[in-house]
Amino acid sequence: MENKVTIRDFKLEGKRVLLRVDFNVPLNSHGVITNDKRIREAIPTIQYLVGQKAKVIICSHLGRPEGKVVPELSLRGVADKLAQLIKLPVVLANDVAGVDTHKLVRGMQDGDIIMLENLRFEPGEEANSEEFAKKLASIADIYCDDAFGAMHRAHASTAKITEFLPSCIGFLVERELEVFNEVMNNPKRPFVVVIGGSKVKDKITLLSTMIAKADTVLIGGAMAYTFLKSQGHNVGNSSYEEDKIQFAKLLLEKAEKCGTEVLLPIDHVVADEFNFAANTKIISTKEFKKDDIGMDIGPKTIKLYSKIISRAKTVFWNGPMGVFEFQKFSEGTAGIAKAMVECSKDAITIVGGGDSASAIEKLGLEHEITHVSTGGGASLKYLEGASLPGLDAIGTKHEEV
Ligand code: 3PG
Repeated sequence: MENKVTIRDFKLEGKRVLLRVDFNVPLNSHGVITNDKRIREAIPTIQYLVGQKAKVIICSHLGRPEGKVVPELSLRGVADKLAQLIKLPVVLANDVAGVDTHKLVRGMQDGDIIMLENLRFEPGEEANSEEFAKKLASIADIYCDDAFGAMHRAHASTAKITEFLPSCIGFLVERELEVFNEVMNNPKRPFVVVIGGSKVKDKITLLSTMIAKADTVLIGGAMAYTFLKSQGHNVGNSSYEEDKIQFAKLLLEKAEKCGTEVLLPIDHVVADEFNFAANTKIISTKEFKKDDIGMDIGPKTIKLYSKIISRAKTVFWNGPMGVFEFQKFSEGTAGIAKAMVECSKDAITIVGGGDSASAIEKLGLEHEITHVSTGGGASLKYLEGASLPGLDAIGTKHEEV
């Protein structure tokens, strides 16, 4: 990472700080937050700002309301959750940098916290509009981006805003970059990468990058069936991507050239239909019948992958090993999580955001992993070497002096 300007580089007392966070948290059908990790992880920056006697103006998006006010996507529940976790009052504005916000900001004392309504209620947010960015800038003196999960979006509150306010990153972003940079530039070896999930198409660049960097790549999830197909295996009725078979083949050739070992599952939990109550059996890769649907990696694969993970000094994991939402098909994902926890004493273990992060949290193992990222799409993009508009928009220290 270049030396980005951070929140520590500013004198904050009495300053209004617009703090962009990613509180895009999952909600259940009753609007209740089902995972508050992104809120918890932003707390150190908020506490620091409060401790430095700044006026803290928090902003975030939630869901995809597409520029309209959608009451179910109000940040009310999020503001209440933050107040409960941080044990300080958090006042939610009725608008996004509108009349109500201005009134609240005028009344703020040093160390107070307010939160704007959902940024995406405003069409200017996703349009990266200059007008909306100026409107946001008008309520603050300093902008701090601590929304790692949204840094891959070029939106008014992540990119354009930096043209109108002195800008920096917060502690959450700093930590994410530190960990990912270490993995990409200087991994302790053996470096083992576990990639799962349903589609090769979603992880083309990640797979290619990791094959070039890692010592071993372990593949699971439905994407494994595209790889197995590319090696001429029958995968029964399992889901695979016909148009990515050739690409999978090329990746395996690339791995051979790079001297990277790529392992595919050797056994599978298969079902007769895609649902949680399906009949299941465990078969080896050679035993697929035409109606078998691969739903999870099998016990021998778990054992094999766990053994490889146990010898690693750096492990990066992204993507579940099976349909882990269904209990019957969650053993593979749980097995990888446990293997990572076991090697965490001697190795750096990192879980990319998204489904694998949810799986780790569901298992209550989050605190036993070196780093569980708050970014889904953003962490993938960063690891792929793509630029993150929200990060590029923040200056480096030598630029500022
Ligand atoms: C995420 O959850 O990945 C971020 O908050 C970005 O959300 P988006 O995909 O709706 O832009």
